[in-house]
Amino acid sequence: MAKKVNDLCGIKESDTGLAAPSQWDLLSDKQMMQEEQPLQVARCTKIINPNTEDAKYVINVKQIAKFVVGLGDKVSPTDIEEGMRVGVDRNKYQIQIPLPPKIDPSVTMMTVEEKPDVTYNDVGGCKEQIEKMREVVELPMLHPEKFVKLGIDPPKGVLCYGPPGTGKTLLARAVANRTDACFIRVIGSELVQKYVGEGARMVRELFQMARSKKACIVFFDEVDAIGGARFDDGVGGDNEVQRTMLEIVNQLDGFDARGNIKVLMATNRPDTLDPALLRPGRLDRKVEFGLPDLESRTQIFKIHTRTMNCERDIRFELLARLCPNSTGADIRSVCTEAGMYAIRARRKTVTEKDFLDAVNKVIKGYQKFSATPKYMVYN
Ligand SMILES: Nc1ncnc2c1ncn2[C@@H]1O[C@H](COP(=O)(O)OP(=O)(O)OP(=O)(O)O)[C@@H](O)[C@H]1O
Ligand SMILES: [Mg+2]
Repeated sequence: MAKKVNDLCGIKESDTGLAAPSQWDLLSDKQMMQEEQPLQVARCTKIINPNTEDAKYVINVKQIAKFVVGLGDKVSPTDIEEGMRVGVDRNKYQIQIPLPPKIDPSVTMMTVEEKPDVTYNDVGGCKEQIEKMREVVELPMLHPEKFVKLGIDPPKGVLCYGPPGTGKTLLARAVANRTDACFIRVIGSELVQKYVGEGARMVRELFQMARSKKACIVFFDEVDAIGGARFDDGVGGDNEVQRTMLEIVNQLDGFDARGNIKVLMATNRPDTLDPALLRPGRLDRKVEFGLPDLESRTQIFKIHTRTMNCERDIRFELLARLCPNSTGADIRSVCTEAGMYAIRARRKTVTEKDFLDAVNKVIKGYQKFSATPKYMVYN
């Protein structure tokens, strides 16, 4: 019976990416593992007679001892520097492999490896914002000599603020897609940790990692989770979150502006942020993402219907006119709802009437959920 079921299922893709168990060769795997010795982690504290034939290395193996050792066969002397973490073998304690600095895995995981598939073409309107952002992020990386010639420091960072759903995160993703620089994305709440000092340590390691890259963009999303203004809670306790924020302030001062680290931050509530974070010299540029105007709304409609199966000549202008004071996210929701109407009516294309119904439902019906008026009150 089992065989019959297997035959019916056919060949399945395995979730683990491993070969089928029948093809495993455990014996030779085991042999290979045995040949490869486990190494021990040590720190190279000093190099005696560097750059000569008989250079020796002082290594410190934690909780065992200090040794003066030589290099293994596979390492060249140029690979090893003072203060580096190295792997040593267990018999002669020779240095076998240079190791990267120790960085918390949760920090390493924040690097965006895969480029997001959003480009500047997917952002409707926001011309001015894109221009401002590119000026700060791309120009100093591509043409640093312009700044050197003029003798000014390029801005270090950009703060994006505006009502929810106006494309702040979207634009950051487009920037990530465009640059060849390493992109690190941190969400503010990730830095809030249980133990005192952990959040600050993560920030330090984050910037340490950023500094080790050739060029790097660090994007803090929803920064109000940690960047709130400092206050006294009245009981004399201190606030861990504030300390994390101060470490960011410190790190922002720490690196050279002409160096290749750029910091982007995004928030809905710029008024709650600490003034120290916002002062010129740290985040010089502040870019407001306002509500899109008529032309931008038309463009956003076009962007979101690009992949939809729509009737020809839908009057997107008219639709855009019918959605005053709505954000990009609202318009996207309208498009989705229009598709839902078409599905409900068992049609294969979306008509203009679907869009009009969807506008009625989303823009008029969900008005009381909109966060935009509240944003306008606070800012
Ligand atoms: N200008 C725009 N052009 C095209 N699509 C947009 C635009 N603005 C928003 N959208 C759509 O709205 C969605 C949500 O936008 P986004 O995630 O950028 O919001 P946000 O500004 O980061 O909001 P929040 O402050 O709540 O995080 C996007 O995935 C996109 O589909
Ligand atoms: Mg966002």
